[in-house]
Amino acid sequence: MSFTVAIDGPAAAGKGTISKAVSAHFGFAHLDTGLLYRAVGAKVAEGQDPFRAAEGLVPEDLQRSDLRTLGAGQAASRVAALPTVRVALVDFQRRFAESPEGAVLDGRDIGTVICPRAQVKLFVTASPEVRAHRRWLEVGGDEAQVLAEVIERDERDMNRTDAPLRPAPDAHLLDTSDLSIEDAIAQAIALIEAKRG
Ligand code: DC
Repeated sequence: MSFTVAIDGPAAAGKGTISKAVSAHFGFAHLDTGLLYRAVGAKVAEGQDPFRAAEGLVPEDLQRSDLRTLGAGQAASRVAALPTVRVALVDFQRRFAESPEGAVLDGRDIGTVICPRAQVKLFVTASPEVRAHRRWLEVGGDEAQVLAEVIERDERDMNRTDAPLRPAPDAHLLDTSDLSIEDAIAQAIALIEAKRG
Protein backbone atom coordinates (compact mmCIF):
# COMPACT_ATOMS: atom_id res chain seq x y z
CA MET A 1 0.00 0.00 0.00
CA SER A 2 1.30 3.47 -0.81
CA PHE A 3 2.11 5.93 1.95
CA THR A 4 0.62 9.41 1.58
CA VAL A 5 1.37 12.56 3.53
CA ALA A 6 -1.20 15.38 3.18
CA ILE A 7 0.05 18.86 4.05
CA ASP A 8 -2.55 21.63 4.00
CA GLY A 9 -2.67 25.20 5.18
CA PRO A 10 -2.95 28.83 4.10
CA ALA A 11 -0.53 30.73 1.87
CA ALA A 12 3.04 31.19 3.14
CA ALA A 13 2.59 29.10 6.29
CA GLY A 14 5.63 27.01 5.39
CA LYS A 15 3.89 24.10 3.62
CA GLY A 16 6.13 24.20 0.58
CA THR A 17 9.40 24.24 2.48
CA ILE A 18 8.25 21.52 4.87
CA SER A 19 6.93 19.37 2.01
CA LYS A 20 10.19 19.60 0.06
CA ALA A 21 12.28 18.75 3.12
CA VAL A 22 10.03 15.85 4.13
CA SER A 23 9.96 14.36 0.63
CA ALA A 24 13.76 14.63 0.36
CA HIS A 25 14.19 13.05 3.80
CA PHE A 26 11.97 10.03 3.11
CA GLY A 27 12.52 9.73 -0.65
CA PHE A 28 8.83 10.47 -1.35
CA ALA A 29 7.50 12.06 -4.53
CA HIS A 30 6.22 15.62 -3.96
CA LEU A 31 3.35 17.46 -5.63
CA ASP A 32 2.74 21.15 -4.93
CA THR A 33 -0.95 21.16 -5.83
CA GLY A 34 -1.11 24.98 -5.68
CA LEU A 35 0.89 24.92 -8.92
CA LEU A 36 -1.99 23.14 -10.65
CA TYR A 37 -4.36 25.97 -9.76
CA ARG A 38 -1.73 28.58 -10.59
CA ALA A 39 -1.22 27.05 -14.04
CA VAL A 40 -4.98 26.98 -14.66
CA GLY A 41 -5.27 30.59 -13.44
CA ALA A 42 -2.53 31.65 -15.88
CA LYS A 43 -4.30 29.98 -18.81
CA VAL A 44 -7.61 31.56 -17.85
CA ALA A 45 -5.89 34.96 -17.66
CA GLU A 46 -4.86 34.30 -21.28
CA GLY A 47 -8.50 33.79 -22.24
CA GLN A 48 -8.99 30.02 -21.95
CA ASP A 49 -12.13 28.45 -20.56
CA PRO A 50 -11.45 27.37 -16.94
CA PHE A 51 -12.70 23.77 -17.26
CA ARG A 52 -10.83 23.20 -20.54
CA ALA A 53 -7.69 24.71 -19.04
CA ALA A 54 -7.92 22.34 -16.05
CA GLU A 55 -8.75 19.25 -18.10
CA GLY A 56 -6.02 19.95 -20.62
CA LEU A 57 -3.31 20.61 -18.06
CA VAL A 58 0.01 18.93 -18.97
CA PRO A 59 3.13 18.67 -16.79
CA GLU A 60 4.95 21.31 -18.87
CA ASP A 61 2.30 23.85 -17.81
CA LEU A 62 3.66 23.56 -14.27
CA GLN A 63 7.12 24.68 -15.42
CA ARG A 64 6.03 28.19 -16.45
CA SER A 65 8.24 30.80 -14.82
CA ASP A 66 5.38 33.23 -14.11
CA LEU A 67 3.45 31.05 -11.64
CA ARG A 68 5.06 32.32 -8.42
CA THR A 69 3.91 35.94 -8.51
CA LEU A 70 1.27 37.42 -6.18
CA GLY A 71 -0.97 37.95 -9.21
CA ALA A 72 -0.69 34.27 -10.17
CA GLY A 73 -1.65 33.36 -6.58
CA GLN A 74 -4.76 35.52 -6.76
CA ALA A 75 -5.71 34.11 -10.18
CA ALA A 76 -5.22 30.59 -8.77
CA SER A 77 -7.41 31.31 -5.76
CA ARG A 78 -10.19 32.60 -8.05
CA VAL A 79 -10.23 29.58 -10.41
CA ALA A 80 -9.89 27.28 -7.37
CA ALA A 81 -13.37 28.38 -6.26
CA LEU A 82 -14.89 26.85 -9.45
CA PRO A 83 -16.17 23.30 -8.81
CA THR A 84 -15.58 22.27 -12.47
CA VAL A 85 -11.91 23.19 -12.15
CA ARG A 86 -11.51 21.27 -8.87
CA VAL A 87 -13.20 18.16 -10.24
CA ALA A 88 -10.99 18.17 -13.33
CA LEU A 89 -7.87 18.07 -11.15
CA VAL A 90 -8.91 15.29 -8.73
CA ASP A 91 -7.73 12.22 -10.67
CA PHE A 92 -4.29 13.59 -11.39
CA GLN A 93 -3.75 14.32 -7.70
CA ARG A 94 -5.07 10.93 -6.54
CA ARG A 95 -2.88 9.09 -9.04
CA PHE A 96 0.10 11.04 -7.78
CA ALA A 97 -0.77 10.07 -4.20
CA GLU A 98 -0.36 6.41 -5.22
CA SER A 99 3.32 6.90 -6.14
CA PRO A 100 4.95 3.60 -5.09
CA GLU A 101 7.80 5.30 -3.24
CA GLY A 102 5.32 7.29 -1.12
CA ALA A 103 4.01 10.79 -1.76
CA VAL A 104 3.68 14.20 -0.17
CA LEU A 105 0.94 16.43 -1.55
CA ASP A 106 0.61 19.97 -0.29
CA GLY A 107 -2.38 22.25 -0.81
CA ARG A 108 -5.65 23.27 0.81
CA ASP A 109 -7.92 20.21 0.57
CA ILE A 110 -5.56 17.24 0.45
CA GLY A 111 -6.47 15.82 3.86
CA THR A 112 -10.18 16.68 3.55
CA VAL A 113 -11.08 15.88 -0.09
CA ILE A 114 -8.25 14.53 -2.24
CA CYS A 115 -6.69 12.00 0.16
CA PRO A 116 -9.02 11.63 3.15
CA ARG A 117 -7.27 8.34 3.98
CA ALA A 118 -3.74 9.74 3.96
CA GLN A 119 -1.61 8.07 6.61
CA VAL A 120 -0.35 11.43 7.88
CA LYS A 121 -2.16 14.77 7.75
CA LEU A 122 -0.55 18.02 8.73
CA PHE A 123 -2.26 21.40 8.88
CA VAL A 124 0.44 24.05 8.82
CA THR A 125 -0.53 27.56 9.92
CA ALA A 126 1.00 30.83 11.10
CA SER A 127 -0.51 34.21 11.87
CA PRO A 128 -1.40 36.36 8.83
CA GLU A 129 1.26 38.92 9.87
CA VAL A 130 4.02 36.31 10.04
CA ARG A 131 2.96 34.81 6.72
CA ALA A 132 2.76 38.19 5.01
CA HIS A 133 6.20 39.08 6.33
CA ARG A 134 7.69 35.87 4.93
CA ARG A 135 6.02 36.41 1.58
CA TRP A 136 7.20 40.04 1.55
CA LEU A 137 10.80 38.90 2.12
CA GLU A 138 10.45 36.83 -1.07
CA VAL A 139 8.57 39.24 -3.30
CA GLY A 140 9.38 42.71 -1.88
CA GLY A 141 7.13 45.73 -2.52
CA ASP A 142 4.73 47.14 0.04
CA GLU A 143 4.37 44.87 3.09
CA ALA A 144 0.91 46.20 3.98
CA GLN A 145 -0.26 45.36 0.47
CA VAL A 146 1.19 41.84 0.79
CA LEU A 147 -0.70 41.42 4.09
CA ALA A 148 -3.93 42.62 2.47
CA GLU A 149 -3.50 40.06 -0.32
CA VAL A 150 -2.73 37.25 2.14
CA ILE A 151 -5.92 38.05 4.07
CA GLU A 152 -7.99 38.35 0.89
CA ARG A 153 -6.74 34.97 -0.36
CA ASP A 154 -7.31 33.28 3.05
CA GLU A 155 -10.89 34.52 3.07
CA ARG A 156 -11.61 33.32 -0.44
CA ASP A 157 -9.98 29.93 0.21
CA MET A 158 -11.77 29.42 3.54
CA ASN A 159 -15.21 30.61 2.47
CA ARG A 160 -15.69 28.89 -0.88
CA THR A 161 -18.42 26.25 -0.90
CA ASP A 162 -16.42 23.55 -2.63
CA ALA A 163 -13.48 22.08 -0.67
CA PRO A 164 -12.84 25.12 1.57
CA LEU A 165 -9.54 25.46 3.38
CA ARG A 166 -9.92 23.82 6.79
CA PRO A 167 -8.08 21.21 8.82
CA ALA A 168 -9.25 17.61 8.53
CA PRO A 169 -10.58 16.40 11.91
CA ASP A 170 -7.62 14.02 12.19
CA ALA A 171 -4.93 16.51 11.07
CA HIS A 172 -2.00 17.47 13.31
CA LEU A 173 -1.83 21.24 13.68
CA LEU A 174 1.61 22.75 13.23
CA ASP A 175 1.72 26.49 13.98
CA THR A 176 4.98 27.84 12.59
CA SER A 177 4.54 31.46 13.81
CA ASP A 178 7.23 31.07 16.47
CA LEU A 179 9.16 28.14 15.01
CA SER A 180 12.35 28.23 12.98
CA ILE A 181 12.00 26.43 9.69
CA GLU A 182 14.44 23.78 10.97
CA ASP A 183 12.23 23.11 14.00
CA ALA A 184 9.08 22.96 11.88
CA ILE A 185 10.74 20.43 9.55
CA ALA A 186 12.01 18.38 12.50
CA GLN A 187 8.49 18.22 14.00
CA ALA A 188 6.98 17.15 10.68
CA ILE A 189 9.61 14.43 10.21
CA ALA A 190 9.09 13.16 13.77
CA LEU A 191 5.32 12.87 13.20
CA ILE A 192 5.81 10.93 9.98
CA GLU A 193 8.44 8.65 11.56
CA ALA A 194 5.97 7.86 14.34
CA LYS A 195 3.25 6.89 11.81
CA ARG A 196 5.55 4.87 9.61
CA GLY A 197 6.60 2.77 12.56
O1 DC B 1 -0.41 27.04 -2.33
P1 DC B 1 -0.53 28.18 -3.36
O2 DC B 1 -0.37 29.53 -2.75
O3 DC B 1 0.37 27.96 -4.52
O4 DC B 1 -2.04 28.05 -3.91
C1 DC B 1 -2.57 28.98 -4.81
C2 DC B 1 -4.09 28.97 -4.74
O5 DC B 1 -4.59 27.73 -5.26
C3 DC B 1 -4.67 29.07 -3.34
O6 DC B 1 -4.94 30.41 -2.98
C4 DC B 1 -5.93 28.24 -3.40
C5 DC B 1 -5.70 27.28 -4.52
N1 DC B 1 -5.46 25.90 -4.07
C6 DC B 1 -6.56 25.13 -3.77
O7 DC B 1 -7.68 25.62 -3.83
N2 DC B 1 -6.42 23.83 -3.44
C7 DC B 1 -5.20 23.27 -3.35
N3 DC B 1 -5.08 21.98 -3.02
C8 DC B 1 -4.05 24.06 -3.61
C9 DC B 1 -4.21 25.38 -3.95
